[in-house]
Amino acid sequence: MKILVTGGAGYIGSVATEQLIHAGQSVVVFDNLYQGHREAVHRQAAFVQGDLADAAAVDAVFAAHQPEAVMHFASHTLVGESMQDPFRYLGDNVTNALNLLRAAVTHGVRRFILSSTANLFDAPQQIPIAETEAIVPGSPYGESKYIIERFLHWMDHINGLRFAALRYFNAAGATEDRGEDHHPEFHLIPIVLQVALGQREHVTIFGDDYGTPDGTCVRDYIHVSDLAQAHILALHALDQGSRVYNLGNGQGFSVQQVIETAREITGHPIPARVGPRRPGDPATLVAGSQRIRDELGWQPQFPDLRNIIASAWRWHRDHPHGYAGA
Ligand SMILES: NC(=O)c1ccc[n+]([C@@H]2O[C@H](COP(=O)([O-])OP(=O)(O)OC[C@H]3O[C@@H](n4cnc5c(N)ncnc54)[C@H](O)[C@@H]3O)[C@@H](O)[C@H]2O)c1
Repeated sequence: MKILVTGGAGYIGSVATEQLIHAGQSVVVFDNLYQGHREAVHRQAAFVQGDLADAAAVDAVFAAHQPEAVMHFASHTLVGESMQDPFRYLGDNVTNALNLLRAAVTHGVRRFILSSTANLFDAPQQIPIAETEAIVPGSPYGESKYIIERFLHWMDHINGLRFAALRYFNAAGATEDRGEDHHPEFHLIPIVLQVALGQREHVTIFGDDYGTPDGTCVRDYIHVSDLAQAHILALHALDQGSRVYNLGNGQGFSVQQVIETAREITGHPIPARVGPRRPGDPATLVAGSQRIRDELGWQPQFPDLRNIIASAWRWHRDHPHGYAGA
């Protein structure tokens, strides 16, 4: 199958591209390199540099490459930024996705996978969070993903476009060749490892007075390879109908546990300072991923926090300046 991967030069999209190619698929990456890296794109993938805001460029990539499926990773991705600049999210994220959807429908594409988010669940009644949980977006970022999910629902109904919305919790870890390299970086594990590399003096813990066992926030970290595998399984299941899945490894780890595990793995003291809580941070977010396990047989290969951090550490140690030094 030929698959168009938007955002395939970014963190998760580049690993999905790698795995699709290893699975024998043909991939076209469409990315404006706003956050992504040309070096992250697998050599066997075709690469088109372009912006989803440019509807003509999006249409041209479908006309030239005739993809049979789309995996849509390209997005503004920051919850905090979306609270400062909602137009970037409720505006750009949505209109960019609409340009993509319009071109997909026009060119007869019937399979679409969306990177959605755990930020759809700001007020969960039950942890782990199942797909039956009420949707309460926690920010314009989460809302933008939900709007796109709703468009997909109607494209399915009207145009027969089968879709999977994969609501990720915290992607983490690295493969041998691809890792996390965002500028600026807001994710905990790479930040902790930057301290171990001597690139930051300390890591800030945003609040240690939550109602969790050690007082710090608990999150669900899912290895980026396990996430990519879920995309491949979902792609093959689409002919049986559209679906939504919550995707995490089902276990929560606290900020304190992440820092302590990183200290063990790196052998570095990794100084930590406690700062104030960040507005809007729930105490615990853990995914219930039973549905994708039952329906698609998805099984995370790297559920252990040590393995996740060790894989990220190998990549950061080998690429201390990210892809820029590759
Ligand atoms: N990283 C996580 O933990 C996480 C969690 C939940 C959901 N997600 C979602 O997964 C997806 C991928 O996340 P990531 O961490 O790999 O992000 P990333 O920033 O590393 O990758 C996004 C890629 O999209 C590209 N891009 C952005 N806007 C574009 C545009 N207008 N046109 C073309 N390309 C554009 C960027 O250059 C980048 O390469 C995003 O949709 C994000 O919202 C990520």
